[in-house]
Amino acid sequence: MRIGILGSGLMGAKLGTLFARVGHDVVFSYARSERKLKRLAREAMGNAKAGTPGDAARDADALLLAVHWSRVDDVLSQAGDLSGKVIVTCSLPMSADDGRLVIAHTSSGAEALAKKVRKARIVSAFGTVPSEVLFDVFAARRKTNRPSLVYCGDDQSAKDVAAKLIRDVGFDPVDAGPLRIARYLEPFALLVGQLAYGTEGGPELAYRFLRFAR
Ligand SMILES: NC(=O)c1ccc[n+]([C@@H]2O[C@H](COP(=O)([O-])OP(=O)(O)OC[C@H]3O[C@@H](n4cnc5c(N)ncnc54)[C@H](OP(=O)(O)O)[C@@H]3O)[C@@H](O)[C@H]2O)c1
Repeated sequence: MRIGILGSGLMGAKLGTLFARVGHDVVFSYARSERKLKRLAREAMGNAKAGTPGDAARDADALLLAVHWSRVDDVLSQAGDLSGKVIVTCSLPMSADDGRLVIAHTSSGAEALAKKVRKARIVSAFGTVPSEVLFDVFAARRKTNRPSLVYCGDDQSAKDVAAKLIRDVGFDPVDAGPLRIARYLEPFALLVGQLAYGTEGGPELAYRFLRFAR
């Protein structure tokens, strides 16, 4: 697949690198320095390049939105027409100081995003794990007992794309239902963040749901 990375920071850089490693064509975009984007493309050791958000979006089969909530409007305006595009978002609707969700309970960041780009197909995924664990999960992907990764969205074909990417990184995708379930997914991401950064043990943390046979 051709994957455009909108926001090449902690999450976008790592996920884009892993997408390139499994054979996807990746365009890294949206960082404060073009040198950084070029370095990421070089070091991804796959078919990756640096570009503008417009370049990242142009022929993309999927876009990863990985910017701070305060940058979403800016990156979307630079990306251009996103009609029909699959947008996988890990961006959480955090306040400027990252202390709290600014959208919650009756809506979610993912639903607000869907209202901003009405003709795009939004899937919420990857926001429930810390960036620090991504390479570890990838390295362990051939072992049994993959960690879970919840995702949600309203468009089945977009969700299929997201599930493939989730598998590519080494997780077991868990379909949580329609996009409005992001109202539960996003606060859960903050719980994972608290476990990762607010308790001892470090941020190399993932989760796994177990179902017991009835
Ligand atoms: N980090 C995590 O573990 C984690 C986990 C779950 C969800 N999330 C969510 O994922 C999203 C991305 O998080 P992150 O930690 O990856 O953020 P980040 O490291 O701050 O990355 C954001 C990217 O946006 C770029 N950027 C910021 N302001 C810009 C500007 N004015 N012009 C151009 N580029 C600009 C940054 O550029 P530079 O590269 O130059 O800084 C960076 O590449 C957030 O919504 C966050 O809530 C993060």
